[in-house]
Amino acid sequence: MAQPCPAARTGLDVRVLEPAEAGREVAGEIAALVRASSRAGRSCVLGFATGRTPLGVYSELARIQREERLAFDHVTAVNLDELLGLAPLDPRSFRAWMRARLFDALGIPPERALIPPCDLDQCDAESWCSSFEQRLARLGGIDLQLLGLGRNGHIGFNEPGSGRQTRTRRVELAAGTRADATAEWGGTEGVPTHAITLGVATILEARALRCLAFGERKRAIVRRVLEGPVGPDVPGTFLREHPDAKLYLDPAAF
Ligand code: GLP
Repeated sequence: MAQPCPAARTGLDVRVLEPAEAGREVAGEIAALVRASSRAGRSCVLGFATGRTPLGVYSELARIQREERLAFDHVTAVNLDELLGLAPLDPRSFRAWMRARLFDALGIPPERALIPPCDLDQCDAESWCSSFEQRLARLGGIDLQLLGLGRNGHIGFNEPGSGRQTRTRRVELAAGTRADATAEWGGTEGVPTHAITLGVATILEARALRCLAFGERKRAIVRRVLEGPVGPDVPGTFLREHPDAKLYLDPAAF
């Protein structure tokens, strides 16, 4: 059961639920959006995120697809970010991660999944980003964007210092972000240094934002997102300026 939460005095609708329940609720909302757009004969653009937090949403979406035969054939998927400096088929790329955890299960083919290639050099990354923004505008924007929260308050890879007007671009990862990824990369030196991320402005243009943060390790940054000044020091605070943003926390993160 969702509990109404006093911290909702910020612009964010805060819901405190166990992760599995949050996963079911968000997946149910996404499924309803997919059904409604299909009935209306419209396409649907869904923004996805990597990380541990959205896994419950993804397993529930895969279950709905399987058991309720929900078709995703009119859905275009957009990914929040991608690491750079990898070989094109590196299994640690977010592209490979999304395919293994979600896209194959939902039947979303590569041509309907807008994820930056992970092997772009600086120049190609810049041109990919500007053509991505144009393509997104032609698609009519993102209907619902799923987000996690970095321990430093990043959304996507908009690290502290990322302003409200930033668009999709190549960024350098913060030291703490790289340190948090050490386990998957066999030491800090192996962790990629750069990434492409949707910008803060690009994210805020999505019609709905659903952000999830679970566990004790997110509690301190969640406080700052809810109660600190809105601004680039903690990019997650910009969620408070969105008209339809929900933050799902478990009791440990709240
Ligand atoms: C990475 C991703 C973010 C994600 C964050 C939180 O930095 N770029 O998009 O939200 O990690 O990850 P986790 O869900 O594993 O805590």
